[in-house]
Amino acid sequence: MSVHERTPTASRGWVQSYVRMDSKTVIITGANQGIGYETALDLAGRGARVIMACRRTDAGREARLKIIQEVPDAVVEVRRLDLASFASIYEFARDMKLNEPRLDVLINNAAVMGCPKSRTVEGFDMQMGVNYIGHFLLTELLLDLLKRTGAISAPTRVIIVSSMTHKFGRMKWDDIMHDNNYSPLKMYFQTKLANIYHCLELANRLQGSLVTCNCLHPGMALTSLADHVKQGDGYSCCLRCFFTSCCCCMEKTVYIPPKAAAQTSIYCTIAHELRLVSGSYFNKCAEERLTGHAYNDEAAMRLYDMTMKWIERGTPTISPVHIGESSLNTPAQGRRSIEGIPPEQMQMLRE
Ligand SMILES: NC(=O)c1ccc[n+]([C@@H]2O[C@H](COP(=O)([O-])OP(=O)(O)OC[C@H]3O[C@@H](n4cnc5c(N)ncnc54)[C@H](OP(=O)(O)O)[C@@H]3O)[C@@H](O)[C@H]2O)c1
Repeated sequence: MSVHERTPTASRGWVQSYVRMDSKTVIITGANQGIGYETALDLAGRGARVIMACRRTDAGREARLKIIQEVPDAVVEVRRLDLASFASIYEFARDMKLNEPRLDVLINNAAVMGCPKSRTVEGFDMQMGVNYIGHFLLTELLLDLLKRTGAISAPTRVIIVSSMTHKFGRMKWDDIMHDNNYSPLKMYFQTKLANIYHCLELANRLQGSLVTCNCLHPGMALTSLADHVKQGDGYSCCLRCFFTSCCCCMEKTVYIPPKAAAQTSIYCTIAHELRLVSGSYFNKCAEERLTGHAYNDEAAMRLYDMTMKWIERGTPTISPVHIGESSLNTPAQGRRSIEGIPPEQMQMLRE
C-alpha cells in the first residue's frame, strides 16, 4: 500500500494530508484576500511556487508579505491580472509563457458578486466578464503550458471555484449579459452556473491531454465578496434593508472562516486520488453530484462555443442568440472567423 493510499487526504471538510508541492507552480487568481489568500498561504507552506494573480498589486504585495511572515521560505510572486480587461489577461499569459517553465495548477478563484450594472473594458457585464469570461480566456491561453507540464510530470489541473448558488442560476440565453432587467444576484448565480458549464465542457475537450479540470463550492465564508449585497447596491430601499439583515444573520450563523472555505480548493490541488479525475464538482473536500439543470452537456457546449466567439472577437456586441444557435453546429476544431483582436493575441489563443 502506498503512502497516498494509507493517509486520507481530507476528513470532514478539512485537508489532513501534509503532501508537499515542491517544484510545482500554481497560479491563483484573486489571491490577495479571502479564500484565494488562504489557498495561497497553504500551498506556499507545502513548498509550491505560488503566483498570486491580483488586480491590485499593492494589496497583492501586502498579502505576499503576510505569507512570508508565516512561511519564511515561501516562494511567492505577485503578478498583475485584471480579469475585466482582455489586454491585462493577454499580458499576464504572455509573461507566464515567456518566464515560467512549468504550470502545474491553475486555480480560477477571483470573483465579484452582486455589483451594480457595470461593464468590463470589452463591454461584457462585469460579473460575467470577471467571474466567467476572463477566466475562460486565461485558461485557454495557459492550456498549452499546462499540457506541456502534464506531459513531463503528473497530470496538471485546472480548478474552477464556483458556488453552490449555481443551483439558483439560469442561463438567460436570449440576454446573456442581462442588458434588460438586470438583477445583481441573478447575474452572479448565472456566472457561477457558467463556471460549472465551463468545467464540464473543458473536461470533455481535455480528455487524453494530461490536464484535468474540476470545479467546486468552497463554503459560505466571511469575506468581502458579499460587500455589494450587504450594502444593497443596485437595489431599492426595502430590498437593501432585507439584504443587510440577511447578511448580518448569516454572518452569525452559517458563515465559516476563509481558511475553512479554502480547504476544497487545496484538496482539489493536492489530492493524489484526483490525479485522473476530471469534470467533477466538489464540496467539503468530497465529490458531489451535479443535479438538475447544472448537469447539462449540451448547454455547456453551447456556452463554450459562444464564449470562444466572444473572446476571438473581443466584444459582446453580436447577438448572443445568433451565436449560440450557430455555434451548436460548429465542431470544436472548426475554428472560427477572427475579428477585432490583434494577430499576436490571436496567435496565443491558437497555440
Ligand atoms: N465567500 C463565500 O461565501 C463564497 C461562497 C461560494 C463561492 N465563493 C467563491 O469563492 C471565490 C473567492 O471568493 P472570496 O469569498 O474569497 O471573495 P473575496 O474575498 O472578495 O476575493 C475576491 C478576489 O477576487 C479578486 N477580483 C475581483 N475582481 C477582479 C478582477 N477584475 N481581476 C482580478 N481579480 C479580481 C479580488 O481582488 P480585489 O481585492 O482587488 O478586489 C479578490 O482578490 C469566488 O469565486 C466566489 O464566487 C465564495
